Amino acid sequence: MNENIAGMARPFTTNEHLIRWVEKMAELTQPEAIHWVDGSQQEYDRLCEEMVAAGTFTRLNQELWPGCFLARSDPRDVARVEDRTFICSLSKDNAGPTNNWVDPFEMRRKLKELFHGAMRGRTMYVLPFSMGPVGSPMSRIGVELTDSPYVVANMRIMTRIGLPVFQEIDKGEVRVVPCMHSVGMPLAPGQKDVSWPCNETKYIVHFPETREIWSYGSGYGGNALLGKKCFALRIASNIARDEGWMAEHMLILGVESPEGEKTYVAAAFPSACGKTNLAMLVPPAAFQGWKVTTVGDDIAWIKPDANGQLRAINPEAGFFGVAPGTSDKTNPNAMATLRRNTIFTNVALTPEGGVWWEGMTDEAPAECLDWRGQRWTPAIAKETGAKAAHPNGRFTAPAAQCPSIDAAWENPAGVPISAFLFGGRRSTTMPLIYQAFNWSAGVYVGATMGSETTAAATGAVGIVRRDPMAMLPFCGYHMGDYFRHWLKMQRTLDAAPRIFHVNWFRKDEQGRFLWPGFGENMRILKWIVDRARGRAQAKETPIGWTPYYEDIDWTGLDYPREAFETMQEVSRAAWRKEVLGHEELFLDVHDHLPSEMIYQRELLICRL
Ligand code: GTP
Ligand code: SPV
Ligand code: MN
Repeated sequence: MNENIAGMARPFTTNEHLIRWVEKMAELTQPEAIHWVDGSQQEYDRLCEEMVAAGTFTRLNQELWPGCFLARSDPRDVARVEDRTFICSLSKDNAGPTNNWVDPFEMRRKLKELFHGAMRGRTMYVLPFSMGPVGSPMSRIGVELTDSPYVVANMRIMTRIGLPVFQEIDKGEVRVVPCMHSVGMPLAPGQKDVSWPCNETKYIVHFPETREIWSYGSGYGGNALLGKKCFALRIASNIARDEGWMAEHMLILGVESPEGEKTYVAAAFPSACGKTNLAMLVPPAAFQGWKVTTVGDDIAWIKPDANGQLRAINPEAGFFGVAPGTSDKTNPNAMATLRRNTIFTNVALTPEGGVWWEGMTDEAPAECLDWRGQRWTPAIAKETGAKAAHPNGRFTAPAAQCPSIDAAWENPAGVPISAFLFGGRRSTTMPLIYQAFNWSAGVYVGATMGSETTAAATGAVGIVRRDPMAMLPFCGYHMGDYFRHWLKMQRTLDAAPRIFHVNWFRKDEQGRFLWPGFGENMRILKWIVDRARGRAQAKETPIGWTPYYEDIDWTGLDYPREAFETMQEVSRAAWRKEVLGHEELFLDVHDHLPSEMIYQRELLICRL
């Protein structure tokens, strides 16, 4: 045992593999200390205390925001870095054209270099976490070694961590996914730390065959909270393909009718396209007795049960939600959730010790400190365009605090799924709602989905790109094989969920949204539920079934028939152009493209 390990606190595990791996990684990264995370409240409080002292956290006014902290990241570390994200499968072909690939041997050499001494002067936290309720047959376990206390604190909200997970590991029956993480800023003796250490050089690396994750240089969101996109989507999509289930970038919600009929729906929208909003929807006043409940807002693990019914769990335990745009009007449930025990990142700090972001209130505070910690006023904003909060500023809040949380959200067996929704941000072309003719046509709809890019990843914003099933940055293997997996899943099902496409974001010529969205989306959800249960009417169009004006419940909303027709318009000219976009994607993945996809495209072209 080396000196580091001799000095380390008692390991909370008897698992020899785990202890040896921790020793080996400590030898590589040379941390000053090793901390085995027990997951307790006292430990969390102490970490927060230390981060306040280090300047990483600002404690908010505890009367207004009990248990809440604000973190400001380095301005160069504010979002996922898709161009620095790698799938290092043995063969390049397995990663496919939509992923960055580097030869795994070469990448391991590179990582060894980067991680050598990377944790000098810092504490290495040994953080065991369960994706899904501890002990559920659908759950999976990882251990993240990280030199970021910010990561530990966020992971405690986002996943289940600590002693119960070590106990699960010690049963010796689970395969643990090793997750290495360093912010990549070792400290020389006596060197003063910064409040948000990170490195200009970033690597977010996945080894699908060995089910390993290595992340270097970033402390932000999906780059660093390795249970989320790295494990629950990129690695899990590989496991799911091998084991016959699905790991999807989907929210899960329940719709309950006044009669108590419950229907669960899962929906895939790209990052910052409204999953959190839809998952926590509050029905309009006219929908007396209707309830929408939240199971998850970002990721779904979905598996057929013994009866051929798809069931889904939310592998997460918290929400890492986009702050800007979140308000008592747009998402009261999210606002109630983030009132306490929440970590805010890259939002503004008010003079009262509260937080603020664009869209939180109609009126901006007279002054505040922006997400960089600089003085901000509405006048400064007007003059310079400076935002108080970063567009990808986020809140990390416990799901259990959500007023709309579903009674079965931690059911180890998951909830039954009756419908899948696909959708993106589309100013044109895409109607508010349509239903795919059948499963294969629905897989085609998801596979060819497009969306305007958002601030959730670095790079240009507002450009339409193909984002199959909202999984473009998250599918850990060849996209063509992923489509095939979707097609194959149907054969394991007794009754496959119905598939729909929605677009809350269509605009008129003046650039105004044609649809009020948010709570009003309940009207569309109701039609979806009715269709999934085989009892609502629909009109056939070239792209699928759409509701007649009369099929939507308009009680309490003045939305004229003409506006609905405009919103629902399927322009053959625009769609012929749209299909060219599909072809571009299909050309990229052509050598793994299932023939059903080509067949579906031909059918669509004929109908147009
Ligand atoms: P990730 O957490 O990044 O995966 O994203 P998400 O899909 O959970 O995104 P989120 O719900 O936070 O998306 C928020 C953005 O979508 C904000 O800009 C909202 O204003 C916008 N949004 C959500 N629902 C609607 C809607 O019904 N209509 C319109 N126009 N905008 C909406
Ligand atoms: C997304 O970008 O889709 C997110 C946020 O949910 S992150 O955790 O940063 O990936
Ligand atoms: Mn997401």
